Amino acid sequence: MSAGMPGNTLCFFINGKKVTEHHVDPETMLLSYLRERLALTGTKYGCGGGGCGACTVMVSRYRPETKSIFHHSANACLLPLCQLHGAAITTVEGIGSTKTRIHPVQERIAKAHGSQCGFCTPGMVMSIYTLLRNKPQPSMDDITQALAGNLCRCTGYRPILDGFKTFCEESRCCQTNGDANCCLNGVKNGTETDAVKPQLFNKDEFLPLDPTQELIFPPELILMAESEPARTLSFVGEGTSWVCPSSLEELLGLKARNPDAPLVIGNTNVGPNMKFKGVRHPLIISPTRVTELFQFSQTPNGVWVGAGCSLSELRSDLEKLYLQLPEEKTEVLRVLCQQLGIVGSQQIRNVASLGGHIMSAFPNSDLNTVLAAGNCLLSVVSEGGRREIPINQDFFVGLGKTALKPEEIILSLFIPFSRKGEFVRAFRQAPRKESAFPTLTAGMRVFFCEGSRLVQDVSVYYGGIGPTIVSAGRTCGVIVNRRWDEETLNRAYDVLLEEADLPPSAPGGKVEFRRSLTLSFLFKFHLEVMHKLREMNVIQDEPQEELQPLPKNIQPSLQEFEAVPKGQSQQDPVGRPIMHRSALSQATGEAVYCDDLPHTQGELFMSLVTSSRAYAKITGLDVSAAMQLPGVVDVITAKDIPGKKVRTLMGYDEELLAEDKVLCIGQMICAVVADSRSHAKRGAAAVKISYEDLPDPIFTMEEAIEKSSYFEPRRVIEQGDVSSAFASVDRVYEGEIRLGGQEHFYMETQSMLVVPVGEEKEFNVYVSSQWLSYTQAAVAETLGIPSNRINCIVKRLGGGFGGKVTKPAILASITAVAAWKTNRPVRCILERGDDMLITGGRHPTLGKYKVGFMNDGRIVAVDFQFFINAGCTVDESVVVIEKMVLHMDNIYNIPNLRGRGSACKTNLPSNTSFRGFGVPQCLLIVENMLTDVAAVLGHPAHQVREINMYKGPSVTHYKLTFSAENLHRCWDECKLRCEYETRRRAVEEFNQQHRWRKRGIAIIPVKYGMAFAEGFCNEGKALVHIYKDGSVLVSHAGTEMGQGIHTKIQQVASRELQVPSSKIYISETSTSSVANTCPTAASFGSEANGMAVKIACEILYKKMEPLRKKYPKGSWESWANAAFYEKISLSAMGHYRGPDTHMDWEKMEGMPYSYFTFGACCSEVELDCLTGDSRTVRTDLVGDIGRSMNPSVDIGQIEGAFMQGMGLYTLEELKFSPSGLLYTRGPSQYKIPAVCDVPLQFNIYQLQDSDNPHAIYSSKGLGEPFLSLGSSVFFAIKDAVAAARSESGLVGPFVLNSPATPDKICLACSCPLTQKVPTAQPGSFKPWALNI
Ligand SMILES: Cc1cc2nc3c(=O)[nH]c(=O)nc-3n(C[C@H](O)[C@H](O)[C@H](O)COP(=O)(O)OP(=O)(O)OC[C@H]3O[C@@H](n4cnc5c(N)ncnc54)[C@H](O)[C@@H]3O)c2cc1C
Ligand code: FES
Ligand code: FES
Repeated sequence: MSAGMPGNTLCFFINGKKVTEHHVDPETMLLSYLRERLALTGTKYGCGGGGCGACTVMVSRYRPETKSIFHHSANACLLPLCQLHGAAITTVEGIGSTKTRIHPVQERIAKAHGSQCGFCTPGMVMSIYTLLRNKPQPSMDDITQALAGNLCRCTGYRPILDGFKTFCEESRCCQTNGDANCCLNGVKNGTETDAVKPQLFNKDEFLPLDPTQELIFPPELILMAESEPARTLSFVGEGTSWVCPSSLEELLGLKARNPDAPLVIGNTNVGPNMKFKGVRHPLIISPTRVTELFQFSQTPNGVWVGAGCSLSELRSDLEKLYLQLPEEKTEVLRVLCQQLGIVGSQQIRNVASLGGHIMSAFPNSDLNTVLAAGNCLLSVVSEGGRREIPINQDFFVGLGKTALKPEEIILSLFIPFSRKGEFVRAFRQAPRKESAFPTLTAGMRVFFCEGSRLVQDVSVYYGGIGPTIVSAGRTCGVIVNRRWDEETLNRAYDVLLEEADLPPSAPGGKVEFRRSLTLSFLFKFHLEVMHKLREMNVIQDEPQEELQPLPKNIQPSLQEFEAVPKGQSQQDPVGRPIMHRSALSQATGEAVYCDDLPHTQGELFMSLVTSSRAYAKITGLDVSAAMQLPGVVDVITAKDIPGKKVRTLMGYDEELLAEDKVLCIGQMICAVVADSRSHAKRGAAAVKISYEDLPDPIFTMEEAIEKSSYFEPRRVIEQGDVSSAFASVDRVYEGEIRLGGQEHFYMETQSMLVVPVGEEKEFNVYVSSQWLSYTQAAVAETLGIPSNRINCIVKRLGGGFGGKVTKPAILASITAVAAWKTNRPVRCILERGDDMLITGGRHPTLGKYKVGFMNDGRIVAVDFQFFINAGCTVDESVVVIEKMVLHMDNIYNIPNLRGRGSACKTNLPSNTSFRGFGVPQCLLIVENMLTDVAAVLGHPAHQVREINMYKGPSVTHYKLTFSAENLHRCWDECKLRCEYETRRRAVEEFNQQHRWRKRGIAIIPVKYGMAFAEGFCNEGKALVHIYKDGSVLVSHAGTEMGQGIHTKIQQVASRELQVPSSKIYISETSTSSVANTCPTAASFGSEANGMAVKIACEILYKKMEPLRKKYPKGSWESWANAAFYEKISLSAMGHYRGPDTHMDWEKMEGMPYSYFTFGACCSEVELDCLTGDSRTVRTDLVGDIGRSMNPSVDIGQIEGAFMQGMGLYTLEELKFSPSGLLYTRGPSQYKIPAVCDVPLQFNIYQLQDSDNPHAIYSSKGLGEPFLSLGSSVFFAIKDAVAAARSESGLVGPFVLNSPATPDKICLACSCPLTQKVPTAQPGSFKPWALNI
């Protein structure tokens, strides 16, 4: 049948079903097709640019040449639909469902507790599903590689890895004792009592993986591939046409006639450029069926590989080849394979082509430096003929530009075999170890005269120090014809420093670091070459330290928790590790998030137009061009708002849409509504706004301090007499530390859908919000109607972390104005870039301190000053400052303590609440102060901490009494569990033996105040109905965002009503079920609403008492049924008033917290001092979480928070331009922790026998406290850096700001090579990025 298909017919399969399309817009990606056209919403949209993995699907194709079927994972957001002819696509819905049979991959991630908010889960599932289709018994390395491009913001990855590890052959071995001491070898692992310790899940329950149950590849596609005649495929869209030629000749003809048309294979460069940079292409040529582009042929001197090959295929082909060749021939091949394994993620490498990569001419390409250093050649072809050109510096002529003529294409690449005496190496340093473009890369090759150390030829290329890759020709000039030794290399460093110069304001910043890396890489090459020469007996020099890569093998981890008391009823789920109640729906893609709601008739999409100036008057707003674009329906401005045009917080007004003046880049000015997402986006881009800049915008905290630009009130607490105490101490030290901000990076961006109900001004607002009542009130005020007409609803959020408390209210209000004005449903889903630009995040912080202490380490007085960069509106900034000042004691009893906190008003986007609410910043400042004291005294930091800790019954600096007993128990247990003393000694030994690698270890405690300091926020509310059939519906005020609140609430209701959890359902949170709710935040949601549900259930249980008595042999169902006939209402409201916390800021005392959660955490890291790379080798965390209601949920929260903290302190970096524009607007630029960042051993221990009379079932709040313990990694890094500095004779305190990213680490290590790099005088140049 297919033989007769016309050239504009696209035929492919999705989940076993055939799809035929005749009119395809070439700009349509598979993701939007799945979600919007087929309503297959399991595949998620997280970033749209290949950077998060939420959209992962499996692509299968039949290859007639080999008669084989080939499966690979891919990002649906970058897969053009037109590219899919002949492919079979499998999405998460295609592999299993709760309605039929779940797939073992789905089951294992769910039951191993690897799904919290669930937004990343389908992507994770599909990455592993694809891996298993290709390799049913993968290794752990295969698993981590497959997941390298899948981000999760909730879990900390450990449970995901644990679940998937069960597919590995090696998982049958416990591995706890290392390879040699496997339990299967007869060596007993752990103690006798380990056998009875409760486990988070039981892998014996898992369904076996049965490859015979998988969907078969459609035979029709095999037939099509075997028999379809060569024909051109073409599709025409609104602005772009697509042609897929069937022969090389046709391709060259097309290219000759359309020299500007791109050739798209992987679409991983063209796609993001079209999407994010607005690049338009009238014609796209897809050469995927030109067989000459995919050939592989070997010659005596090397190998020709087709330019169309994907990076994954190329790697696998080259690997097969080099295994058959003598080693000396394989230098270039091996290094290329190494680099091919690290470019982007597996999803990217599976589609990205070699030709596309070379032609993209990235200045920091991982491959091009090696191809150039390795003397590779290109075969290029056009209608005019064929030629061969070398890949070298002349080939790359500018950013994204090559020397190819527009009508030419790359046909293939020649990779030469290396010769005896030739060595090739590649180096890279990236902001994150995996799935990250490098900051700097290098390819280096040296060729020696036979049997000697005399250099015959050398080639060194760097990427990342200019608009193209560069050849260090002059440096090579001083090496060639000389002996390869220290002396030559030392001369080379000096020349390299001059040659690889970068102006201090070079784009990308980190100039000193990049220059230092150029030297480090050459030094590493030197060491490796020396090692090789020694191995070949060419030289007999003293061996130098061999540079090993940082460790990366994940070890088994412990999660220890308390078992439920003996005698607890089997049916009572409280205290048991019950799976997240939606985990299976999340893993099958059935779980519904806001943007998964079906589209309704007439629905519009809204796109926001934001300010491009930081501080300016708006002088003109021209929407005429936008209004003329196809599909655009209206433009909403402030004038359209029928009610209140501002939101008021802390006495400050914030405009919903700016009218006359803008206060930051990213401030919302108007919104375009159109009939589709792409039309709205295009409309927004066409709105023209003119501005008149206002003078002196403020960006940094220093500028704000200088100009006294603050949001009032500023807060102070003082105990003792700080000023006079300084006179009585042995020593005084003054220091400071800054912390960058943090993006929430919830995987689901801000999302809302406002639906006019059609009468009496009623609206349903579906909104991904942590505080529905606040959103409800905002929408009502904005529309000028009563709250009783607005029903705000949320089923679940794809993560919140504080970022969806206040911000959704403004966004939903604007969306509601659009719905009100057009009288149509309006959906607004922020693009990742807009979300990051508009909605702010954690406050950047500057902490200054003056500390007075005794020679034994006792701290007598501290004067803290905290500044946070609030941005342009107040939001919750003042409350953040309050929380910082309240936590400035952490766990230390400092008799004279003063802290002053100020929220700086600047012209940056407004920052907001973020998990931990100021405590993570405050704790780092306090602990840094202690680290400095220890460094001044030369004492171990843990001893200084111990000597200053609260002991026994204690009183905080705001006069709250508490017991420090559990704090000490956590600390002592952590030290014991992590074998602190032994490992400290081992670290010191390691450091003595290694010059360029250092280890560090640190143990950090936390005390975290629980409940909202504003007593009115501590309420919990619930409504419980029991239906006639005995089923129970619970509604409560809390929102489910992955933290497992609904699961815990279900457990509460089950215990209180004494019915199985399966009888209880929680549908959604809505303001019409439960009114006037408090935010789900401050780690207090489960506690407050759990109590409310408990109260409601107790009422209902009591109401059923007469029935139980009357029908003692009856069942739950029969009593529920009888209640109806006996006119007993089985609906009850539960109201929990919560603690009446308060704080008197005048008197500087109060009870802002109901109780404290304690914890302690030890982390050990290993550093590469030459590059600043680090790896956390082990983390042990002891948490006092009371009596856990659900240990799997709670351990998940602890791990997730820890990883988020680790991201904050060591990885995540927001960058702003000097004019206040956020550069880092997506996962490509902003790195959150990925699988490669998980501590190699990650042990969590629940403190046993801890009771808490203040919370439900003696539990404790824990969503936030443990985030601060991510700082143990920061301080372990600082410890390792101190060891590196001591090698250079530097001792005592030093500044290391947060995040401790590789650049800061490397420069702080101050190795001899780094010291060679001159530092540009601050003030003498305009830096690329602001230090806000
Ligand atoms: C999320 C992400 C992470 C990444 N990480 C890294 C990384 O860590 N390191 C790294 O080095 N790179 C990285 N990349 C870049 C990636 O390797 C390139 O985008 C990719 O290799 C380009 O190949 P493609 O087939 O997708 O090109 P396409 O986008 O399809 O095409 C790119 C360009 O190449 C031209 N072109 C394609 N084939 C030919 C040909 N045969 N002849 C002439 N012109 C041709 C096209 O006209 C077009 O202009 C990353 C990209 C993404 C999206
Ligand atoms: S949505 Fe496709 S990778 Fe993020
Ligand atoms: S569970 Fe992974 S992002 Fe929420």
